[in-house]
Amino acid sequence: MGGLHKGHTHLINAAKLASRDQSASVVVSVFVNPLQFGPKEDFQNYPRDIESDFDLANEAGASVIWAPTINDIFPGGPSSHFNLKVPVELNDHLCGPYRPGHFNGVASVMIRLLTIIKPQILFLGEKDWQQLIIIRRLVEDLDLPVKVRGIKTIRDPDGMACSTRNEKLSPSQRLKAVELSKQLAKAVEKNKKGDSIDTNHMKLELKKSGLTVDYLETVDPYSLKIINPKEKLCLLAGAIRCGEIRLIDHTFLMTRKPLVAIDGPAGAGKSTVTRKFAEKLKLLYLDTGAMYRAVTWLIQDQNVDIKDKVALNNMLKNLDLKLEKSPNGDQTISINGDNVTEQIRTSGVTAFVSQVATISSIREFLTKQQKSMGINGGIVAEGRDIGTSVFPDAELKIYLTASSKERALRRASDLKKRGIQVPSLEDLENQIQQRDELDSTRDISPLKKAEDAIELKTDGMNIDEVVEKLIELFQSKVPEEIWPSASY
Ligand code: DC
Repeated sequence: MGGLHKGHTHLINAAKLASRDQSASVVVSVFVNPLQFGPKEDFQNYPRDIESDFDLANEAGASVIWAPTINDIFPGGPSSHFNLKVPVELNDHLCGPYRPGHFNGVASVMIRLLTIIKPQILFLGEKDWQQLIIIRRLVEDLDLPVKVRGIKTIRDPDGMACSTRNEKLSPSQRLKAVELSKQLAKAVEKNKKGDSIDTNHMKLELKKSGLTVDYLETVDPYSLKIINPKEKLCLLAGAIRCGEIRLIDHTFLMTRKPLVAIDGPAGAGKSTVTRKFAEKLKLLYLDTGAMYRAVTWLIQDQNVDIKDKVALNNMLKNLDLKLEKSPNGDQTISINGDNVTEQIRTSGVTAFVSQVATISSIREFLTKQQKSMGINGGIVAEGRDIGTSVFPDAELKIYLTASSKERALRRASDLKKRGIQVPSLEDLENQIQQRDELDSTRDISPLKKAEDAIELKTDGMNIDEVVEKLIELFQSKVPEEIWPSASY
């Protein structure tokens, strides 16, 4: 809406970086949208300075600054165009109840901006979090051909979130208003220590500073439903009024780094894409299939009878399974001191592993180890039961799949590259279908798509396309503020 500041510079920089790969232009739109102001709100007094906006956008690297008139956006006037209505579930918390019609106005103008400019990527500030979530849903529901990227909130040295409306605060009002960001920062520290967050107490503190509190709520950042901050990722958001000026701010409460679960059938290309994806996002890669394979290798090496529960339990009692990163960045796996990274990929292990993976004591042992490896988050784990059993509260769950024909082709090319004899495609497809059958029909933790997982069918997609899609999905489930993705 103009009145550009440091936060916008950051958005433009991010767009500029992304535009390099795509040889695209960065268009900065400046439009004070009349539809998103209520009758008693500050449409007339909203800060406007197109000259200084132009300079800032130009310096930040914009190719074009586009400042349309109301008539350019709504020929014939706003009332001669369709008006969109935001779903109630996204509008009945946070700013929605305090600004009736606001988000309908935002959505109605956004669809015009998008259809006029037709951008590849839309960059929006996370500062207006509810707006970001609503626009994402708009794009998703209308299947608009644009990616939406949220960019983290930029703050002034005193902690206050950069906002165009800040410039309307007098110095004494600024001293009061900064209390909102201070309270939010305190809540983050408390949450890290495991202390509970008392929003009523926070509201009192804000009132004591001379602010009027519209709301201070803890919600799920994506559904925007009220949640307890103890639950996974939580948005703590507030709106205050300092005299006539209304300001919003938020923070995220989270006690660990993000977790990503990637499940799917054999040969869907999980390992390759997960490894690349983890590297790009600076998350640790955990190949849980390798753990089942290592145990299978040990069973075969020690000739353990898998029907002999006592022998199995003895094996598990003394089991020392380690996953480590080798100096060249690859993952190595050792079991009881033996490095078995290569051995676990042989056809003997592959043929037997699904059977071993049905044994409950082995699943319990490995699931426990996997859970403890993920206790602080920061992991992308791939397997069959990650989203359903190992990390059911992962921020992003993917069910990666492909037709059995495509998977057989991929397996063949993989074996060829590794110099291993390639069976016929028919045999490979049969083997894959047999493993699918075993993995998805076993009693404990069968392979199945978690209810909240996103299914990604990769037929016809190359590795980079799948990785790019995964990054896009990650960005839509984890705020940049929590985990900056280095890819733009
Ligand atoms: O992904 P992979 O092919 O390396 O996995 C080997 C086997 O291990 C697979 O057939 C099923 C089993 N597995 C499992 O049951 N649960 C997991 N989380 C990972 C693998």
